Amino acid sequence: MNDNETTPPSATNAPQTPACASRREALKLGACACIGFGLDAAGLNRALADEPAEQRPTKGDRLVVVGADGTPKLLAAADVKLGEKPVFAFPYDADKKLVRDGSRLNKVLLIRLEPGSLDEATRARSADGVLAFSAVCTHQGCDVSEWVPESRSLLCFCHFSRFDPCQSGQVLAGPAPRSLPHLPIALERGELAVNGPFSASPGVKKA
Ligand code: FES
Repeated sequence: MNDNETTPPSATNAPQTPACASRREALKLGACACIGFGLDAAGLNRALADEPAEQRPTKGDRLVVVGADGTPKLLAAADVKLGEKPVFAFPYDADKKLVRDGSRLNKVLLIRLEPGSLDEATRARSADGVLAFSAVCTHQGCDVSEWVPESRSLLCFCHFSRFDPCQSGQVLAGPAPRSLPHLPIALERGELAVNGPFSASPGVKKA
């Protein structure tokens, strides 16, 4: 797991490392001791960076939801309904048919709001009112999972940080130390696509 990729407080038991886990699976679990890898911490981070499924969203990636059978479904703006609950998605390299779900720091929440309610910087990163933010709270890494219409905010239930999606994800309340990173998106052939890197590193920053 990357330096700033944290396990949410609710996850209490670390997953077991299978004896013959794939290289990628072992790297995800930080299994430096796996036979033959011989990686120190710096080497592990370099190896993670080399894994395409671990790489951060890249311009041109589509956004997908992954079905129970593992099939990615491309998302259009119409799949994200105005003012409704967030949709959770991952970036997808359509050429390589690769979902970048090897890191939870790539998980994004999509929400659709009236374009007129967004400030200029936020609107510039949106597509037809659809916004994409990191789904990982900047406090201790829980999922930011709820849209609260009454306060027009995104909520993390772990310690009740709230973020303003209309103003680039800035913190409205709670212990989160910084805004929710915003992922620029655009429409390509009607599909939601990544239009640039996150506005800041997703996840929990070490002091
Ligand atoms: S993890 Fe503490 S408020 Fe989100």
